[in-house]
Amino acid sequence: MTYKIGVIPGDGTGPEVVAEGIKVLKAASEKFKFKYELVNYDLGGERYLRTKETVPSSVLDELRELDAIFLGAIGHPDVKPGILEKGVLLEIRFQLEQYINLRPVKLYPGVETPLKDKKPEDIDFVVVRENNEGAYIGAGGVLRKGTPDEIAVQEAVHTRRGIERCIRYAFEYCRKRNQKNKITLCGKTNVLTYAFDLWERVFYDVAKEYKGIEPNYAHVDATCMWMVKNPEWFDVIVTDNMFGDIITDLGAMIQGGMGIAAGGNINPEGVSMFEPMGGSTPKYTGMGVVSPLAAISAVQMMLETLREDKAGKGIEDAIMKVLQRDVKSLAAGKMGYSTSQVGDLVVQYILGK
Ligand code: IPM
Ligand code: MN
Repeated sequence: MTYKIGVIPGDGTGPEVVAEGIKVLKAASEKFKFKYELVNYDLGGERYLRTKETVPSSVLDELRELDAIFLGAIGHPDVKPGILEKGVLLEIRFQLEQYINLRPVKLYPGVETPLKDKKPEDIDFVVVRENNEGAYIGAGGVLRKGTPDEIAVQEAVHTRRGIERCIRYAFEYCRKRNQKNKITLCGKTNVLTYAFDLWERVFYDVAKEYKGIEPNYAHVDATCMWMVKNPEWFDVIVTDNMFGDIITDLGAMIQGGMGIAAGGNINPEGVSMFEPMGGSTPKYTGMGVVSPLAAISAVQMMLETLREDKAGKGIEDAIMKVLQRDVKSLAAGKMGYSTSQVGDLVVQYILGK
């Protein structure tokens, strides 16, 4: 079979890092013998400024027919915040029912973490973030706008169905991951007593079906504290959309920064989309200084989701070699190599040259 992969290079440094991801995909396909074809989609800030379109529904229909999507970054300095995020990124997540946002937080050897005395064996967990509900759905509104009496309401919506499918995915993932067999629900049951009461009840109900897995609960504020103080306690963290957004940026920092952090927007029954976490970083655009390793990790996650496990492993091994042998730092401009040279190094290691 030939995988049909949609590519959305997007804005800013997105196209630069996507180019390296594609280079690595090509090398992996040669080495591990799988076939793919790419379909490019011009979405993002430039298209919006030209046409006022975000994602036309005809494009959404095409995306639904793919095997996977590889996204660079969405966000443009000349477009008001919210338009592209909601119009492109959230639109695809919601319309394609990518109800999981999967974020591995793994410190590789050779990468510097800001956490003093923490080593790769201490920082290796996964956040399973609900990706279709909560405060992200855009429910609410404003009254008396622009007056001193203005009111803004932004409602978070949590459904039993949405919570349960997310929690089930997290337990399944935890079982397959086969590490500490520990799962932590991250919530706020002491204040958000409607929403997280529902999350907690569903969590402990589902936990009964997974005897070998230890269920735990932590409030979101405490989760942040433990992520810094004792990250080794975590194996799989499951949480809602908003808290997941926040704690995964903290996770990215402790694993060495945006230069290495990747994520998947997963529809386990449909089309999933993989992306580096870093955003479009306008100030570095076109300079060839940002790390492509996050985008390359996104390609790794994409191949693992397509069950090309050997290819995924091959890419991860190559990334680890580059981190240990070559790049000095993951910070923009401090790698000691350009964006495309780092891509070339990963390719060399994959091909065993
Ligand atoms: C992320 C991003 C997005 C989010 C933004 C760009 C809408 O921060 O993928 O974590 O909040 O989900
Ligand atoms: Mn985020």
